[in-house]
Amino acid sequence: MSSFDNTHITALTDLINKAVQDIIAEYASAGRAVPSLDTLESGLFQVPEETPARLTKAIQIVEAACAQLSCTVAPPGSVMINKSLEHEEPACLLVVTEARIADLLLDKPEGLPASELASRSGLDTRKLTRILRLLATKHCFKEVKPGVFANNRLSMKLLSSDTVSSIVCLLTDESLRASAYLNETLTDPSERDGGIPFIRATGYPFFDYHKTRQGLKKGERFPRAMVGWGDVTGKGLLAKVYPWTSQPANTTICDVGGGNGHVTMNLMKAHPHIKVVVQDQPQVIEMAQKFWAKEYPGAMEKERVQFIPFDFFKDAAVQGCDFYYIRSILRDWPDTESELILKNVRQAMKQGSRVIIHDTVLRDAVRTPESSSNASVHHDVAPEPLLPNYGVARVRTYELDMTMMNLLNSQMRTLPEFIELGKRCGLRFEKLYEVGETDLVEFSPI
Ligand SMILES: C[S@@+](CC[C@H](N)C(=O)[O-])C[C@H]1O[C@@H](n2cnc3c(N)ncnc32)[C@H](O)[C@@H]1O
Repeated sequence: MSSFDNTHITALTDLINKAVQDIIAEYASAGRAVPSLDTLESGLFQVPEETPARLTKAIQIVEAACAQLSCTVAPPGSVMINKSLEHEEPACLLVVTEARIADLLLDKPEGLPASELASRSGLDTRKLTRILRLLATKHCFKEVKPGVFANNRLSMKLLSSDTVSSIVCLLTDESLRASAYLNETLTDPSERDGGIPFIRATGYPFFDYHKTRQGLKKGERFPRAMVGWGDVTGKGLLAKVYPWTSQPANTTICDVGGGNGHVTMNLMKAHPHIKVVVQDQPQVIEMAQKFWAKEYPGAMEKERVQFIPFDFFKDAAVQGCDFYYIRSILRDWPDTESELILKNVRQAMKQGSRVIIHDTVLRDAVRTPESSSNASVHHDVAPEPLLPNYGVARVRTYELDMTMMNLLNSQMRTLPEFIELGKRCGLRFEKLYEVGETDLVEFSPI
């Protein structure tokens, strides 16, 4: 780089300019202007399923390039202090979400004084003012007059009626608490608490904590938080990304650890020629049957769905299905347990069966020749000079990996880790498909 070469920043502003034009064009073709932060109605393009691919990509470029540009031009010491203080924002988000401040501000475009919000929520006026001012400075809520706050586009997601507020609480409560103990847990050679920061923080394993007196409410919030996560990350994309339409009639998909089977139910609604077998623990299978009877009685009447209880550590999956679909399971378990699950699936496969692991695949933060040349790997690589994994635009994937480490001592995996895990269980990697923020990793039997 010559002493006058500034292309490392001008290339970023070029990317931003082009992406902003793309964003404007996508909204224009839907007959709208791009909403401002003050726009309260939910409007267009709220979920990945409804967002055109060009818009998704442009938004990621803006997020990644703006962050990379700020980190490049600001003094490094200043950047590092800012990063180190970022935990204050989630702590404040938990306070306002549990206090339902967004609910109190609903239909009040002129806002309410913090004193009134405090008296209605039982919080201290001065402290709530400071909390709301910090959040407004980070663009969540708006300070309309000194000490008077109103909702904006971001704070509307904290309404108690919005599933996003539940995932915000999970991440800013249980998860933030555990991450405060990460260093202490990693550097303690005694492996006290099984090396799990959450246990050190609370005295309980994650799911046991939800059964304690102090954890009960958080346990009730957990399933809704999972729905919120799915709503934001595009659970409906599964039906569009994999070539389901080219599968023959009565193709059978076993939903391994499928919970109530809500994902394969959506898939069947989009592709009625497939059949589904839901497998999970006995008590969950009972719930699944009730769920399908209510939400999709036709599938039960026509015997398009079966429910078979099992323990995925001890029992083989149901024999001879065409697909074994494993969503959000392996991230919860270390390699030893994940191997047990996969081997029990492998045992049930016939020739021609496929395993589809639906999870998030971690990408490297460095450009490698394989990242753009492997024909089996269909994933989007960011344009230079951005990081190939879209940097900050996709950082929550890596943060979620930390969440798994802190809460459960489990992990997200890279593609080579998935391929290796598959190999140890008699499975050959076929293809990677991107499904919004998650991925499908397809395997066949070796
Ligand atoms: C994170 S949930 C994922 C559910 C579903 N696949 C989804 O994506 O919504 C994990 C699932 O694993 C199931 N599970 C946990 N231990 C199990 C076991 N030993 N045998 C079978 N299923 C189990 C749970 O009941 C739960 O439904």
